[in-house]
Amino acid sequence: MAAPSDAKGRAASSVQGLVRELVHQFTDPLDFYRELIQNSIDAESNRISVTLDYKDGRAVAGVEDDGVGMDGRIIDEFLLVLFRSTKDNDLTKIGKFGIGFVSVFAMAPERVQVFTAKNGESWRLDFPSYKHYDKYRMPALRDGTKVELTKAMTLQEYGAFSAASLAKVRYWCKHADTRIFFQDRTSGGPEVPVNEPFELDGAASLRYQEEGTEIVLGFSAEPRPFCGFYNRGLTLKEGEQDFQPGLQFKIKSRFLEHTLTRDNVLMDDNYRKAMAIIARLADRELPRRLKADLVELAQAVGRNPAAEALPQEWARRLPFLRRLFSGRLSRWRRSDWAVFPVLGGKPISLAQVHAAVSAGRGVLYFDAAANRVTEALGRRGLPVLPEGPWVAELAAWSGGARLLRASGALYLPRPLDDQELGSELLGFIETLRRMDADCGAKYRQLLPADFDYPGSSIVDRHFVTSRAPGELGSISDRPRPSLLWLGRERLCALLNIRHPFLCRLGRLHQQRPGLAAYLCLKTMHLSDGEVPPAQGDKFCNLAEKTERRLLESALTIDCTQAHQGGRT
Ligand SMILES: Nc1ncnc2c1ncn2[C@@H]1O[C@H](COP(=O)(O)OP(=O)(O)OP(=O)(O)O)[C@@H](O)[C@H]1O
Ligand SMILES: [Mg+2]
Repeated sequence: MAAPSDAKGRAASSVQGLVRELVHQFTDPLDFYRELIQNSIDAESNRISVTLDYKDGRAVAGVEDDGVGMDGRIIDEFLLVLFRSTKDNDLTKIGKFGIGFVSVFAMAPERVQVFTAKNGESWRLDFPSYKHYDKYRMPALRDGTKVELTKAMTLQEYGAFSAASLAKVRYWCKHADTRIFFQDRTSGGPEVPVNEPFELDGAASLRYQEEGTEIVLGFSAEPRPFCGFYNRGLTLKEGEQDFQPGLQFKIKSRFLEHTLTRDNVLMDDNYRKAMAIIARLADRELPRRLKADLVELAQAVGRNPAAEALPQEWARRLPFLRRLFSGRLSRWRRSDWAVFPVLGGKPISLAQVHAAVSAGRGVLYFDAAANRVTEALGRRGLPVLPEGPWVAELAAWSGGARLLRASGALYLPRPLDDQELGSELLGFIETLRRMDADCGAKYRQLLPADFDYPGSSIVDRHFVTSRAPGELGSISDRPRPSLLWLGRERLCALLNIRHPFLCRLGRLHQQRPGLAAYLCLKTMHLSDGEVPPAQGDKFCNLAEKTERRLLESALTIDCTQAHQGGRT
């Protein structure tokens, strides 16, 4: 293209070569949307419409604005002259090189038309190709400028073209300050607004504004968080970054500029200044925001550990917390941040976690939900954290604490009063007590108990022993054999009354009380503790004696029952 002196123009061959090169430097044939919209924004438009239509085997793509338009002089001296721009050194405009318009030829259209008016002149330009154009004065004035591209394609190709067009327009223009609408007229649907709020995924945690620049910052769990650069809302570049770990950001600034290839942000002094603002916000403002966010989330998680979104939100902030907690000193300085949730309680700080770990002999407890065990630990002053992303992290920050799931590591059956049992079960328990007493009272007490609570690690056991009923037991404690209790305090046996084995024995007890009680106690003795090797002989003796007594007792009970049954 070269400036024509009359209504028809033809580019000189050397210029043609340059145009061809320029046309090809647009990486994507659909980049023309970005360029035309940029020109419309720079023309101070209030509204821009992007339209698509399909007629007679041809797609017609149009970008129309209500901006300042062009008169013959601007057309001849700027639109059609490469490297001439009316926006030289004007930072209120996005365009600057004077080459954007040629992008309309990148998708090799059959024809490009421009309709524009200004200063009482109205013009139509027809470009059969970039090599040649016709310029016509139009009788009617119009508002702003419309550029239309026509290209032959199949209807199927048109469908893909339409979808790709909307995606492109959205990518490049979603944060534009000017209202932009997209409409595919073949589908007859309404205009779709292209603009989206200047927001981040998961919402921004900090907004910053100064003359000509707007920044939104948010926490991110991505290893390479998102970053977006925009000039007056037009995308300069969106991508991933690794220089601000744990932080995603978008920056819209009229000081940021695109490179000649237009798909990147120019890394000039203005860019470095913008990055310095972001670094300053990350150092000074965001730690405060992070603390406030995490305290609030930790309180909410403590109240409702089942709400899935809360731990995710906490996790989104974790890489930035890691960044602040990475050094011993910075961790120590923030050790009063109560950002770790506690089941059913107030959040605790790292200092409190340290205290809990020493009170728990090197263990820090967590669990999926509050239960009998976590409540018992709480009564002992040991906080239990809900399950979540903070748990693994605390292993590193709490000086090598052992992290244990409370309900998996500890158990707490609830002893039941005899009155809480049905007569059938109560009868069975009483027979067990009698038989145990007959055989030398191996257990201090034989109590029915409820083993079933959320997270219980003992629902499958038919009994457990403990020093006192209602005392927390530990799964990792080696059981003490009750037969060898001589010289030591005897243990209480708590029976899981809902265990199928005990239920069956309870039913058998109706007919054969002796056999049922024998089977129960025998099974308890068998699985009740390990015998120290040195005491193996003694145990065998004891076991045999106890066995004999159990059998005798069982026979007596069953014979008495049979006798009584025979009499009735
Ligand atoms: N829609 C429009 N409304 C008013 N003037 C326009 C419009 N489109 C283009 N122009 C004029 O045409 C000139 C050339 O546009 P072109 O897009 O090629 O370059 P630019 O926008 O100046 O710079 P850049 O190459 O960075 O886009 C612009 O400087 C402007 O004066
Ligand atoms: Mg331009």
